[in-house]
Amino acid sequence: MKFALANLSPALTQTACVVLPVFEDSQLTAAGEALNKATESLIGQVLERGDFKAQLGKTYLMPFAPGAEAERLLLVGMGKEDKLTDSRFRKAAQAAYTQLADYSLHDALIALTDTPIKGRDAKWKIRLLAEIAETSFYRFNEFKSQPSPFEPPAELSFYWPEALESSDGEAALKVGQAVGQGKNLARTLGNRPGNVCTPIHLAETAQTLAASDSAFCVEVLDENQMQALGMHSLLSVGKGSDEPPRLIIVKYQGAEDPQAAPHVLLGKGITFDTGGISLKPGEGMDEMKFDMCGAASVLGALEAVRQLKPRLNLIFMIAAAENMPSGRASKPGDIYTTLSGKTVEVLNTDAEGRLVLCDALTYAERFEPASVIDIATLTGACIIALGHQATGLLSNDDQLAAALLEAGIDAEDRAWQLPLWDEYQEQLDSNFADMQNIGGRPAGTITAACFLSRFADKFAWAHLDIAGTAWHSGKQKGATGRPVGLLVQYLLDLDAQLAAKTSDGTAA
Ligand code: BES
Ligand code: MN
Ligand code: ZN
Repeated sequence: MKFALANLSPALTQTACVVLPVFEDSQLTAAGEALNKATESLIGQVLERGDFKAQLGKTYLMPFAPGAEAERLLLVGMGKEDKLTDSRFRKAAQAAYTQLADYSLHDALIALTDTPIKGRDAKWKIRLLAEIAETSFYRFNEFKSQPSPFEPPAELSFYWPEALESSDGEAALKVGQAVGQGKNLARTLGNRPGNVCTPIHLAETAQTLAASDSAFCVEVLDENQMQALGMHSLLSVGKGSDEPPRLIIVKYQGAEDPQAAPHVLLGKGITFDTGGISLKPGEGMDEMKFDMCGAASVLGALEAVRQLKPRLNLIFMIAAAENMPSGRASKPGDIYTTLSGKTVEVLNTDAEGRLVLCDALTYAERFEPASVIDIATLTGACIIALGHQATGLLSNDDQLAAALLEAGIDAEDRAWQLPLWDEYQEQLDSNFADMQNIGGRPAGTITAACFLSRFADKFAWAHLDIAGTAWHSGKQKGATGRPVGLLVQYLLDLDAQLAAKTSDGTAA
């Protein structure tokens, strides 16, 4: 889809369809008033008759618009004006795009930018509208032999009144598009089945994404290289599988100072989690193809970075393996030495995410990072604690945690912090090794993070448990693209802070 700004009044713009906001009290925005006037009160008459009540997310198609240049009008209900919030605006926009998708139009003019929302300017709105356009027209048809015919519009234009700075509008469109496409990439990788999306597939995807751009360089460690380094914990998870594990590292140089400490994003990339010898029950096990959604979100963020070029140094890492039972698989009670030298007793082979991440965290020490964030579908307990709304957040650094919480609010991709108190650590005490890989049923999300924290004491670190937020089950089964929104917002915030500091005259 091509995105563009439209400066003309929506009444004067030639398009297959204008998408126009209406409030429940029949109030129109300035753009709506202009169209109403041009069409000799066509909109006003529909509202007066009570044919369209403009409840939130309801739509009404007017197939002709005599007097306007548009072929059609799509009225979108915004609900009550004083109730309009970020998430209600998002819902209305989604509803509008869902309708547009049904009509298979070549193009449309989205005239929602002048809808008043408290505390939000036109830039914010156009960014969101672009992002939601990308995610609303997403379809995953890679494995349908006869996909239902569907074409997103070739071009969407967004009303951007002439009085506004067009470079602001262009920049906001670009961010929205990058975030939306980043989310969609994460969804596609998550939705691909385990027999296609293997550790090697993740590595090849990273290579393809980075190849087009000299700001990136990729390194993929294979099992021999990991063996030589001593990453026996990560390797233990892949032992039962015919698909070899990989550690994927993508470096991005965006800061002026090549030596500036990098921020690291590390994703759990278990391309299928059977549980291993501690085998999971059969029902719903197919959903464990989504156990690489942490990795997918890292690649989604990488895609957005590729498009937006923040002035930061970044390292994208993925710890990828397939967790299978076999004669070669690791067994309950087996003990492995991690890259850090610490030993781990594997009491449950289904607690494998922490086993791949711990070695990757130790590996990250060599980058002397400014921060490390790992993203993982780590614990079923996180779904019990927070459901499917919030991502679990645990951190050894209050400032980093606060930055992530705030980014999540701004991106409507929220996280909620859980405590990482020392008292929980003793649940990991082992009689035979330095620690065991499970801490019992109480506080399962926290003890998983406690395990990781033991490998993250050399840097500011945060852990995002996305078990409840990375995919939908049931009829809507599919990857959500979370938390790409949160991650990209966090990176853009860092970039903006740096820019503010530089223009202050204080050192970058
Ligand atoms: N990938 C799962 C976590 C998971 C389970 C995510 C269900 C989403 C839905 C993880 O590898 C796992 O199996 N964790 C175990 C840990 C337990 C053995 C301590 C769990 O949550 O049951
Ligand atoms: Mn598991
Ligand atoms: Zn898992």
